[in-house]
Amino acid sequence: MSDKVKNIALSSDGSAVRILDQTRLPGEVVYLDLRTREEMYEAIKALRVRGAPAIGIFAAWGLYVLAQGYGESEFFSRLDADCGYLISCRPTAVNLARQAERMRALAHSMAGRPVPDIVAALGREAKAIHEEDIAMCRAIAEAGLSLLHPGDTVLTHCNAGPLATSEYGTGLGPLLLAAERGVEIKAYVDETRPLLQGARLTAWELMNAGVNCTLICDNMAALAMKQGRVQAVLAGCDRMAANGDAANKIGTSGAAIIARHYGVPVYILLPSSTIDLSCPTGADIPIEERDGEEIRSMWYEKPMAPAGVKCWDPAFDVTDHGLITAIVTEKGVIYPPYDVNLKKLFG
Ligand code: MRU
Repeated sequence: MSDKVKNIALSSDGSAVRILDQTRLPGEVVYLDLRTREEMYEAIKALRVRGAPAIGIFAAWGLYVLAQGYGESEFFSRLDADCGYLISCRPTAVNLARQAERMRALAHSMAGRPVPDIVAALGREAKAIHEEDIAMCRAIAEAGLSLLHPGDTVLTHCNAGPLATSEYGTGLGPLLLAAERGVEIKAYVDETRPLLQGARLTAWELMNAGVNCTLICDNMAALAMKQGRVQAVLAGCDRMAANGDAANKIGTSGAAIIARHYGVPVYILLPSSTIDLSCPTGADIPIEERDGEEIRSMWYEKPMAPAGVKCWDPAFDVTDHGLITAIVTEKGVIYPPYDVNLKKLFG
């Protein structure tokens, strides 16, 4: 693996998963070593580690670390319990359940073999999951860049960069690759209320990479598009249904509706590990709801809303497939009809 941002890694002695605590960015770069299931659950819940592919990779490494502490008689019962516990933390991104289940299935396929052999195999599997994501993100960046032109400006939403995946990221991959090649693609970065992943994380990543970016509030995207400032919307995805409906950070759907109105193409970039053909449509994707304090008081010195006001805080929305101009995966650019073409490539 290269020396790009390491949001997730195994500690050098192999006894912990090391994460870059994303809640401390952009002000502080703090790494945490996590060893217990409770620490791992809290890190996912609090979005210290976040982004669909990243939480899948994290769960894989986490289960490897936890498995090192299981005794022989309890090995599978503890693995199953820890797997279910981590999966229960966040429901929308399919990567979390998919990668945790992949680890569990591998271990069960080795039942009867010595525990140290199973644990070693889990370590190799976690590494494979991580390396596959790096390769997929690189391919997505390349395919996504083929849709853009030098001098274009894109709109980003949430954070779909290296912090949310590995290395290039998905939605930000084309921008990072362009910067490496000296091609100027600029970005308007939606701050992404309520948790400000755009302001805190995307702006940080793009500035570090030398991408010319401008931060805007979410409600400024319509004016930017009306004035012809944006040539494409680039977003990641937490789970894509079989018909191409795409669950992603709350607000993505609104940006896509505005883009349709002003004739701006919308590209959803994701690895195949985020496609869930078992969900026929977006209506089958569970949407996480979070604590209303994120709206009411978080980020403010004093709460910005009346004490006790009711809040509804869905963390994701679903962009209808009809609003998506193209889907970009590691297998290239996919155009409608998505139900047919997704099944052809990934069925
Ligand atoms: O709640 P978050 O910050 O985990 O939400 C993340 C997103 O919505 C990302 O856009 C998505 O996971 C794609 S990341 C490549």
